[in-house]
Amino acid sequence: MMKFPQFSMLPFLMVVVMLSLSGTTLSHPHWDFLHCLSLRLANYSTISKVIYVQNNPSYLSVLNASIHNTRFSTPATPKPFAIITPLKTSHVRSTLYCSKKHGFQLRIRSGGHDVEGLSYVSEVPFVILDLLNFRAIKIDTKNEVAWVQSGATLGELYYAIAAKTNTLAFPAGMCHTVGAGGHFSGGGYGTLFRKYGLAADNIIDARMIDVNGRILDRKSMGEDVFWAIRGGGGNTFGIVLAWKLKLVPVPAVVTVFTVNKNLEQNATKIFHRWQYIAHKLPDDLFMNVWITKVNSSQVGTKTVQATFRGMLLGGVDELITLIQDKFPELGLAEENCNEMSWIESVLYFGGLPLQSVDILLDKNALPTLSLKAKSDYVKEPIPESGIEGLMSMFLEEEADNAVAMIPAFGGKMDEIPENELPYPHRAGNLFEATYIVQWTKEQNAESGKYISWSRRLYSYMTPYVSKSPREAYVNYRDLDLGINNINDYTSYEQASIWGFKYFKNNFKRLVQVKTKVDPMNFFRNEQSIPPLLSPWKKKGN
Ligand code: FDA
Repeated sequence: MMKFPQFSMLPFLMVVVMLSLSGTTLSHPHWDFLHCLSLRLANYSTISKVIYVQNNPSYLSVLNASIHNTRFSTPATPKPFAIITPLKTSHVRSTLYCSKKHGFQLRIRSGGHDVEGLSYVSEVPFVILDLLNFRAIKIDTKNEVAWVQSGATLGELYYAIAAKTNTLAFPAGMCHTVGAGGHFSGGGYGTLFRKYGLAADNIIDARMIDVNGRILDRKSMGEDVFWAIRGGGGNTFGIVLAWKLKLVPVPAVVTVFTVNKNLEQNATKIFHRWQYIAHKLPDDLFMNVWITKVNSSQVGTKTVQATFRGMLLGGVDELITLIQDKFPELGLAEENCNEMSWIESVLYFGGLPLQSVDILLDKNALPTLSLKAKSDYVKEPIPESGIEGLMSMFLEEEADNAVAMIPAFGGKMDEIPENELPYPHRAGNLFEATYIVQWTKEQNAESGKYISWSRRLYSYMTPYVSKSPREAYVNYRDLDLGINNINDYTSYEQASIWGFKYFKNNFKRLVQVKTKVDPMNFFRNEQSIPPLLSPWKKKGN
């Protein structure tokens, strides 16, 4: 017969009732975890809004609501034993306490865009702490600051800013459904980063729960931890509940533009030239190149297109004069340009219809696909022959839904020292390249073929990209770079393989901070920073 410690029966019975109604069979640790949590949550209506166990009628819809890579929503994908959706800080602390006590790994989820699914998949027994109810945003235009809770999406943040003013903004990513929590934890950049740096560069305070359940702000966590949480990767140092942001000025009117050039229109030569120019342009200009496969003008054949898309913090005349002077090869004309407000530019770059900004609040405005991502940093222009090879890979069958996203660096990014924050990819980079290959959920059985294509592309790019280390962007997480041991100690040397790629020398300081704040490595995932000492060794195992 099962034995439980003494406890007030009422809340626990409620969970039991809920579970038995849902048909769930539970083993000891599961019971213990739920018992622990139900004791701390204490009333039925809270429990029913906060705990979702498998077979609960809402479990799958809550799980899937923030899955943004359907590669990880198959019947074979490991599922959490429970999803906890806290309504208040005490619920977060209780979840932390009970997961620690009963040996469940905790996966913190904000927007659920982790490209390797790390916020909602684990090979060991785990629970998801889903911050979907932590979405409050406070904008203070007078002091040009904002507080945003981690579960809010970037779309919600941008919407809230624009509801108050059209001359302030925040320099974060372009996809409106990305969550603040994961995005800021890895750096985060978008159309304003050449002017103002990363999202993380503009965070001035935070509210975090550490492994001991203490609620900390910048002052009480100390500058080392505050440094680490702004770019050192999520699920590593604690649970960040909210962030204080420094808002940045934007003109009431900005100008966006798009110019498409396919292979027959000299895409290769124009992109080759772009590499010499784009990173030196004024920091008021953002410019991105997307390489994709498209239909050619000859029916039934395909070509590769370079889409040059950008934004000037200024008017159309200024933009055209600038580009005609510095980059005439692009052939930018007035019909390629559009003046609009900054918030409308968010729709433009997010691939959303230029109608109502209300769509920024819709998490399902765009379809979710299966995907694999990889990233590189480029410091020397790629020769034309190299670009030709890259383009030709996009003509392959697997690349029907693939894209190389290539934003020009320079500007403010050149001015910020490499060790200012964990994100080290600053001066000296011409651009970053993110390669994303996508397919539909129905094609998941063929995932292997798409993933192999992305690995071949990555291998093809080797001679043209950064070396020793081959740098990568932690927000486009790539488990091909190496992983931690799932249930055992991971040495500094082992983690260095991917750690130096993401963080360069900052990896060392991240390990020191981790060792100090979470020496037993409670917060962990396949690529979290390991502490220096083995918790297993410490315990004498
Ligand atoms: P998710 O919730 O999956 O979290 C990501 C990681 O952070 C996980 O390890 C998670 O456990 C951890 N975490 C989440 N919340 C936390 C919290 N509160 N405290 C501690 N840890 C936490 N990037 C970019 O720089 N610019 C861009 O324009 C885009 N665009 C883009 C589009 C699309 C479609 C995708 C899929 C991804 C991007 N990204 C991006 C990458 C994006 O910034 C990255 O995936 C973020 O980590 C996503 O944050 P979420 O909160 O959505 O993810």
